Amino acid sequence: MIDGKHILLVIGGGIAAFKSLDLIRELRRGGAEVTPVLTRAAEEFVTPLSAAALSARKVHRDLFNLTDEAEMGHIELSRSADLVVVAPATADLMAKMAHGLADDLASTILLATDTRVLIAPAMNVRMWLHPATRRNLATLEADGVLTVGPDEGEMACGEFGPGRMAELPAIVDAVRAALSDGPLKGRRVLVTSGPTHEPIDPVRYIANRSSGAQGAAIAASLAALGADVRFVTGPAEVPPPRGVAVVPVRTARQMRDAAIAELPADAAVMAAAVADWSVSNASGSKLKKRDGEMPALEFRENPDILVEVSRHPDRPRLVVGFAAETDDVAANAAAKLERKGCDWIIANDVSEASGVMGGADNAVTVMTAGGSETWPRMSKSEVARRLADRIAAALAT
Ligand code: C5P
Repeated sequence: MIDGKHILLVIGGGIAAFKSLDLIRELRRGGAEVTPVLTRAAEEFVTPLSAAALSARKVHRDLFNLTDEAEMGHIELSRSADLVVVAPATADLMAKMAHGLADDLASTILLATDTRVLIAPAMNVRMWLHPATRRNLATLEADGVLTVGPDEGEMACGEFGPGRMAELPAIVDAVRAALSDGPLKGRRVLVTSGPTHEPIDPVRYIANRSSGAQGAAIAASLAALGADVRFVTGPAEVPPPRGVAVVPVRTARQMRDAAIAELPADAAVMAAAVADWSVSNASGSKLKKRDGEMPALEFRENPDILVEVSRHPDRPRLVVGFAAETDDVAANAAAKLERKGCDWIIANDVSEASGVMGGADNAVTVMTAGGSETWPRMSKSEVARRLADRIAAALAT
């Protein structure tokens, strides 16, 4: 799908710039032609010579290069590509893009282009989380700029959190998706994600430790394959991905209603950690602390959304459930497949020792009617990509 395509690769000035050299290689391996554009800051991290050698093309570096302007102006350069990729997209480049600044070749190209733009942000975690970057990202998304990543993890600066540039396979996938309609084009996929909050009173609730990271990654991967994703999410720590229709909910009952309202769908991936019980005698006003007197909470069972979707008259062709277990993962998951009436169960070990809950990695076993398959431990985004590919393949038959 990227074979014969022309990609203009803007390399920003961040430590992740060295990975962009490998990106050139990967894109060329897929048959794409890559024209690198280096910002001045990028040249502090990678040399124009290595970018030229790997791309086998002239590297564009400076707005006021008269030879370039005579041969191929920056306007033409910005329009000649099938896709403009910015990797790494630094906080500074994102800010320039969001505000339409054009004070060097890279930003001028980004302002002048009429081609789709995909950015792979990479920066320090504080810069990524700064309200200014949040605003700039929202502006860019509203402008139709595509994004991939950033990933969460240890950063070159020693801090930990979101800000690492997405891994190369994810960027290449995103490039592919941006250049094609994707195998899930025209398919509607329901994804539930995150925890639910079950109120005790107006200020207190019962919750669980789900961060929503795996569900968000799955929704992003499905969207990258062209799916029309309906993302029904409880109050998650991880923000919803770009390019999906977000339906925010709080309680299990709200999640059930929202999920059912999205049917019919071609597939459903129920990754939410739905609370099993809600407080049936939740108070309408804040419970007061009284000496020696404990509130007596009563519980009722929540609807099982996975079961309801699996048994619904508009049941999606493929229903995928999750089984977060702490013991006997495989046996419990196999039983769950049977009991829930879904087609696949993705089982994972969420015991404290596994570090899965709230962590960046996951180790899953995929159970289907045909048997089970254990995947090696990998990042949640890699699990998501593989799963999305599987779903696409299953819906193609
Ligand atoms: O029964 P258990 O909670 O372990 O099942 C997990 C699977 O069922 C997950 O896919 C989860 O999203 C789904 N589920 C649900 N509604 C519930 C409980 C679980 O959709 N009330």
